[in-house]
Amino acid sequence: MTTPAIETILTEDRRYPPSEGFAAQANAQPAIYDEDFETFWEREGRERISWFEPFTQLYEWKPPYAKWFLGGKTNVAYNCVDRHVEAGLGDKVAFHWEGEPVDERREITFADLQRETTKLANALKALGVRKGTAVGIYMGMVPETPIAMLACARIGAPHTVVFGGFSADSLSDRLRDMECEVLITQDEAWRRGTTVPLKRTADEAVAASPSVKSVVVLRRTGNEVPMQDGRDHWWDDIAMDKTACPCEPMDAEDLLYLLYTSGTTAKPKGIVHTTAGYLTGVATTHHYIFDVKPDSVYWCAADVGWVTGHSYIVYGPLANGTTGVLYEGTPDFPDKDRWWEIVERYKVDILYTAPTAIRAHMKWGTEHAEKHDLSSLRLLGSVGEPINPEAWEWYRRHIGGGRTPVVDTWWQTETGMILITPLPGVTTTKPGSATKPFPGVDAAVYDEQGNEVGPGSGGYLVLRRPWPAMLRGIHKADDRYRETYWSKYDDVYFAGDGARIDRDGDFWLLGRVDDVMNVSGHRISTIEVESALVDHPSVAEAAVCGRTDAQTGQAIVAYVTLKGSEEASVEKLEELRNHVARKIGPIAKPANIVFTPELPKTRSGKIMRRLLRDVAEERTLGDTTTLADPAVVEEIRDRAASEKTEE
Ligand code: PRX
Repeated sequence: MTTPAIETILTEDRRYPPSEGFAAQANAQPAIYDEDFETFWEREGRERISWFEPFTQLYEWKPPYAKWFLGGKTNVAYNCVDRHVEAGLGDKVAFHWEGEPVDERREITFADLQRETTKLANALKALGVRKGTAVGIYMGMVPETPIAMLACARIGAPHTVVFGGFSADSLSDRLRDMECEVLITQDEAWRRGTTVPLKRTADEAVAASPSVKSVVVLRRTGNEVPMQDGRDHWWDDIAMDKTACPCEPMDAEDLLYLLYTSGTTAKPKGIVHTTAGYLTGVATTHHYIFDVKPDSVYWCAADVGWVTGHSYIVYGPLANGTTGVLYEGTPDFPDKDRWWEIVERYKVDILYTAPTAIRAHMKWGTEHAEKHDLSSLRLLGSVGEPINPEAWEWYRRHIGGGRTPVVDTWWQTETGMILITPLPGVTTTKPGSATKPFPGVDAAVYDEQGNEVGPGSGGYLVLRRPWPAMLRGIHKADDRYRETYWSKYDDVYFAGDGARIDRDGDFWLLGRVDDVMNVSGHRISTIEVESALVDHPSVAEAAVCGRTDAQTGQAIVAYVTLKGSEEASVEKLEELRNHVARKIGPIAKPANIVFTPELPKTRSGKIMRRLLRDVAEERTLGDTTTLADPAVVEEIRDRAASEKTEE
């Protein structure tokens, strides 16, 4: 597991201690690490969120299932919206929304959020949605997406948000698995000046999702889209009733949402997140890690469709009454300085993004950031994949003016909240290290046998104690939940990531150790892409793996054996790439496809992915002695070299 790159970083060991000025004003002070974890979460649970009925027990741990804040009753939308309005903050901006078209902007206050979530909640009720009715949300980065999520939370209807870049098949898989009765979508979304046909894709998905009875459609671009009588309703036509819609009292452990994520099989897993533990976890981490102040303008540049958007665009920041920025478009539209223009316009003080975006900005050059006044920035964050030290340094220097702390935050869809991270003002950071477990989090690195490994050695990242925002299971898949996270070690959570701890106790994340790839911070399973490929009539067999990519972290490489009569060609290659995009979504398109008459297999017929990874990385081949036909890899290697095509 040891990689040479990490060795080099460790010997260099660049350190950035917090500045005195930042430390003095920071929300997190050093004593936070001394607190006993039960005292810490007991206090955060009581004070950070508001309760209709207080909890009577902090947590219950019956491995592998945890419950938090037992006996408590609360409502997430009440915490994110109503209580701020009641406290006199109705006029405070909740979101500065910036449309992709340069002249479209809106300010959404907490009072606006209350009014709009009430209207939509009343409309959903009129469509028959009750506490427990599942609702799908398939939208872009418009204010109505958080509004839809909060409207669901208001009435106790669990939601699943499906990223707007996913295909009809991916959407219907999720709608069917959760048995959604309503889907909320929009006519189209903007992307780089062109439109993305969300409603049309939704129609295709709904046709294959018998549970969906009603579709609510937001007008965004205003272009014509088909509407089915009786089933489809324009948002504006039905969200009219402003009558107060009380926030449903929810049990601490009631379902808040499912978010589907790729695992090591073709079927995405519906990760279960519940009410009070999740909200406490995301609000607490948001407060301390991002050092959010009452007048902060905080921008998390993720998409709401991923967990980062759920926890750190919507639920954490709104629970803390924070003003956020919501941007609809891409970083380079219409120009490569769009982000920096936004930072300057709204005087953003906290920016949270992914290494892949940072590397794109690095590639485009510093001149775009230099055109703008970024002096409002106080803190920068990174998430989604290991950040290479060069990108970390570039981010701090060229975006943070060489003065801002950078927090590299490790977490997952399953963890719900950030678990390994610096605390700005307390932690001495090192470029490339996510540093220390958040207070109360017990993280460690284990070897194959379950022994804790000491400083310097690589191993598997584990979590040995429950935390409030942890997943409560996989929807309708108890076996898979136990098998994926809890079977490698007894009663210890296996994250699927490699890690090592240095002599200062700082964690260095080393990437996935399973068949999951991380492309531009998006999790994609090799098997999902393989299934999409073999679904194509020309394909006999396919094997997929990730290879290192300077820009996207990893890129997808597919090895494909075509059926007997089929000819390999550039056209076929494009056809297959597009087929994967259609089956899963454009994020899953392979960067390379290598056509090969055979795949390397063991004598028992198992594809040897390890060898394919070696070929993809242009490494010396590992052990080939178990191969049925050793000549196959050589042939693939030659083909890979000659057929390599890049996006
Ligand atoms: O491999 C780790 C990587 O992203 C995975 C989780 O992906 P997902 O559930 O899509 O959530 C992404 C946003 C939280 C992890 O298993 N990962 C996430 N953050 C980091 C990271 N790897 C290294 N450093 C990070 N800061």
